[in-house]
Amino acid sequence: MFSRPSLQALALSLLATGSLVHAGPCDLYASGGTPCIAAHGTTRALYNAYTGPLYQVKRGSDNTTTTISPVSAGGVANAAAQDTFCASTTCLITIIYDQSGRGNHLTQAPPGGFNGPDIGGYDNLASAIGAPVTLNGKKAYGVFVSPGTGYRNNAVSGSATGDEPEGMYAVLDGTHYNDACCFDYGNAETNSKDTGNGHMEAIYYGDNTVWGSGAGSGPWVMADLENGLFSGQGTKNNAGDPTITSRFVTAIVKGKPNQWAIRGGNSASGSLSTYWTGARPTVGGYNPMSLEGAIILGIGGDNSNGAQGTFYEGVMTTGYPSDATENSVQANIVAAKYATTSLVSGPALTVGSSISFHVTTPGYTDRYLAHTGATVNTQVVSSSSTTTLKQGASWKVRAGLANSACYSFESTDTAGSYIRHSFFTLLLNANDGSKIFNEDATFCPQAGLNGQGSTIRSFSYPTRFFRHYANVGYIASNGGVHAWDNPGSFNDDVSFVVGAAFA
Ligand SMILES: *[C@@H]1O[C@H](CO)[C@@H](O)[C@H](O)[C@H]1NC(C)=O
Repeated sequence: MFSRPSLQALALSLLATGSLVHAGPCDLYASGGTPCIAAHGTTRALYNAYTGPLYQVKRGSDNTTTTISPVSAGGVANAAAQDTFCASTTCLITIIYDQSGRGNHLTQAPPGGFNGPDIGGYDNLASAIGAPVTLNGKKAYGVFVSPGTGYRNNAVSGSATGDEPEGMYAVLDGTHYNDACCFDYGNAETNSKDTGNGHMEAIYYGDNTVWGSGAGSGPWVMADLENGLFSGQGTKNNAGDPTITSRFVTAIVKGKPNQWAIRGGNSASGSLSTYWTGARPTVGGYNPMSLEGAIILGIGGDNSNGAQGTFYEGVMTTGYPSDATENSVQANIVAAKYATTSLVSGPALTVGSSISFHVTTPGYTDRYLAHTGATVNTQVVSSSSTTTLKQGASWKVRAGLANSACYSFESTDTAGSYIRHSFFTLLLNANDGSKIFNEDATFCPQAGLNGQGSTIRSFSYPTRFFRHYANVGYIASNGGVHAWDNPGSFNDDVSFVVGAAFA
């Protein structure tokens, strides 16, 4: 037997030979003396030697699961394995594995002090296909958190408690956020309840202004320290915390006794900047901190789950990482070359064309997606229908209002009104130009789940698809709390053949 080098020694030797690019983020943290106690990434391995599971997905067709691992040691996730496993059905991310060896996996968040509006129990799981990207040209999937979605581990090994030092980073989608509470990744309460100031230390991303804010109108990287999102000292504005404009953002929060910092940068290029560094907030309860050591993703410490965002990778460390260590991690992230990729698949749609959506469910194939006033429904339409009905069942394809890689569908008879979802029901509403309307009215088609035509995925709730149920239009998930989420005939009800418009 020969003794194997420790990861730290390995990373140091890699550093010594100048092969920085071969050391993963957690090799770099280890070499800096602040090792990862949790490493979460659905997109790639975060240690250069890691070959274990990255995440688990569960498919709707038979409720079975599979594990997605890197294609090679230290490499990008095997997205092709997911695509094969999830073909012609729906898939959810059920476990985000901890790569540190400590078993600090993230799973569906349990109910907390705040009960979500969508389900009164556990939070929702993320779609496995809501956040496709490429790393160095290879496809991988992030974790797309819609409101109501959350992951958590309340029994973490090795995390900071009390006033102990820690660091963390996350790579996020800079364009996916809202102002609700709270899209977080980091250290939180172990009972899923608000236990007071200083009981959390997590990265927050969004444009909430209830507690703190930065320059411009947001979104910002802030720290959720419980009962406050902090951009700097106090709970007010820090002009040094900039509005983020990059598609990919590296967000960093770290803390130690009476000292903490916020740092950030563009994950696709350049270096990190320090947005805040200094003493703990002088408001009571934050010095010393009272950390509990759970880990949350996509939610607040009390399970507040109204926020949205996208997580690609992130870690928690023990010890307060040096800026130099974090700078080398940022260089590694940049070298991973995060980039966007297509959000749509299946039959192509052409912006500017006029189309109809033909129902494929057996027994209903004389029906098309139409509207009666604001209600989106299915109606029996044919070449001999009235002009009014033909127009009501005809839609103009527009570039997606929230994301031009997807589409929006404008009414033919009511210019300026679009199909949007509201409380998971499809409506025809006038475009009010708001961010929420744009998101509610953007859809990303994929190949039809029943093998026919297209399935029209909601951009903002990618576990949900256009569905006709009792002849009314919804965005439905494959199983869920609403009647229209019934898994019976799901694949047929969400598959529509897109054809020429009637009018
Ligand atoms: C999957 O599990 C859910 C919840 O337990 C159940 O309602 C559904 O029928 C199952 N689906 C299949 C295909 O077994």
